[in-house]
Amino acid sequence: MRGSFLRSVRPVRPADAPSPTTQAAYASAAATETAQDGCAIRVRGVFKSFGAVEALAGVDLDVERGTVLGLLGPNGAGKTTLVRVLATLLKPDAGSAEVLGLDVVEDAGRLREQIGLAGQYAAIDENLTGIENLVMVGRLYGADRRAAKARGRELIERFELSDAAGRPSKTYSGGMRRRLDLAAALVAKPPVLFLDEPTTGLDPRSRLALWEVIEDLVGEGTTVLLTTQYLDEADRLAHAIAVIDHGRLIAEGTSDELKDQVGAERLEVTLDDEGDRRAAVAALASMSDEPPTCEGRVVKVQVREHRGAIVEAVKRLSEAGVGVDDLAIRRPTLDDVFLSLTGHAAEEEKGEDEGPAEDEDEGEAA
Ligand SMILES: Nc1ncnc2c1ncn2[C@@H]1O[C@H](COP(=O)(O)OP(=O)(O)OP(=O)(O)O)[C@@H](O)[C@H]1O
Ligand SMILES: [Mg+2]
Repeated sequence: MRGSFLRSVRPVRPADAPSPTTQAAYASAAATETAQDGCAIRVRGVFKSFGAVEALAGVDLDVERGTVLGLLGPNGAGKTTLVRVLATLLKPDAGSAEVLGLDVVEDAGRLREQIGLAGQYAAIDENLTGIENLVMVGRLYGADRRAAKARGRELIERFELSDAAGRPSKTYSGGMRRRLDLAAALVAKPPVLFLDEPTTGLDPRSRLALWEVIEDLVGEGTTVLLTTQYLDEADRLAHAIAVIDHGRLIAEGTSDELKDQVGAERLEVTLDDEGDRRAAVAALASMSDEPPTCEGRVVKVQVREHRGAIVEAVKRLSEAGVGVDDLAIRRPTLDDVFLSLTGHAAEEEKGEDEGPAEDEDEGEAA
């Protein structure tokens, strides 16, 4: 089943691309192609290594205009590297990428005017106040003072920073900085936004506020590439999801498509008494093609047919004299998808190669 999931990953440029005589010819042909169709981001065969570490090992990806792509993957999978390539902060070693028809290497300067980036680590001016930071960013993107101020105030309010708006941002708490950094990325309403784990470290209310701002922007036509470890966030926001591991795309589709691939719905029975496990398994086994699994008092069964499964299970368990505390049908979640694809859960403890990459100058684009 997993085979159908795997997307063929092309090592370099697609074979069906016009054979370019120069990089520039290829770039402009691809740019025209991207600009004409509904594709805002197009990645083809992108490789990027840091010394012996192959962070991106041939990534192909398309993001439709006006949609949110959720980019998921375990720590060290290559998510931030891909975002940095697309935001023109890193040059790919091979392959090509276009955003709004602009090549990330050839047209980096023009492209920067069209994109916003909220990185994994905050990038605000510590000595400016909250509102000053936002107005400055708005002005840098070409808004006049009045418009920059209005948008700045709107975001300050949405992220509940009003009380702190006049204070230098170096006095902000970690979560407040994070919120200000996000507000700065959203100030200019650029047509394409890159958000790298935007809600990490945010309290639940701020997460919700950010989700709403993102939904508003997408409603106005913004395209968003969002990396996240929170699968509920991807579930809520993303129109399409791509899963990346070891620098390769290992699956893509809508949340529902991915869940369907993981398998059947599951009946979960919580027993009154753990000692009844054997009897419960015997009673339920023939409802499934897979042997039931047990965890403490919980017995899980992949049911072939979820309709009527609860009634059938209750009947069988009561005939077997097994007491039941709780019984439910559970659909696979994105967590199950993640687990089945990468072999571990999304929020598992961080790997050894995780953490803020020291900013190296190797391969910087500009
Ligand atoms: N500047 C760098 N120098 C050396 N190695 C790097 C650098 N940036 C990234 N790497 C390595 O490339 C791989 C991919 O890193 P990347 O930051 O893209 O992962 P990620 O998917 O964003 O992970 P996380 O979920 O932890 O943020 C990792 O092995 C990382 O150690
Ligand atoms: Mg990262």
